[in-house]
Amino acid sequence: MFNDIERVLVSEEELSAIVKRLGAQITEDYRDKNLVLVSVLKGSVLFMADLMREIKIPCTIDFMSVSSYGSGTKTSGVVKIIKDLDTDVVEGADLLIVEDILDSGVTLEYLMKVLSARNPKSIKICTLLDKPERRKANVKADYAGTQIPDAFVVGYGLDYDEKYRNLPYIGALKPEVYE
Ligand code: IMP
Ligand code: MG
Repeated sequence: MFNDIERVLVSEEELSAIVKRLGAQITEDYRDKNLVLVSVLKGSVLFMADLMREIKIPCTIDFMSVSSYGSGTKTSGVVKIIKDLDTDVVEGADLLIVEDILDSGVTLEYLMKVLSARNPKSIKICTLLDKPERRKANVKADYAGTQIPDAFVVGYGLDYDEKYRNLPYIGALKPEVYE
């Protein structure tokens, strides 16, 4: 598994510092609000688990699962809901979508559209990684961990063909693994 990684892009120490910074910022911004963290499965689970521990105000969590990728490294452009939120009621909620990576933006644009239509009090995006070079849709993250160059990355929840999610850091996959 470790032999398939070309280089480490975000180390464990860097991830921990990023999560602490984002958690502190969210804690400040969502005081006196009705914070609902919406984790996008499966890529964001490690980020979500660490981030919520750095949020020092009351919040609830929920999960959604969407797919646009299949087993390749490029988005198909068609997003579908695999699992919806457990709750039917988001009116009055301050939703914060927690995502692993903002790449083309197609997934988050779709999620913003679907969730906004349910009339939450507010809706924002928190992404661990941002790959701005590849943006196709008009989406911006309200909270972003770090920008990364246009490489296919795995680890800390992110996968290639469902593998590598358990690496504790973010690494660029050797191109020969997916070419
Ligand atoms: P987007 O719709 O193109 O922005 O893609 C968003 C989703 O694609 C993310 O939630 C990831 O699951 C996946 N994705 C995009 N880039 C990468 C990558 O470099 N490694 C692993 N998954 C990725
Ligand atoms: Mg994902």
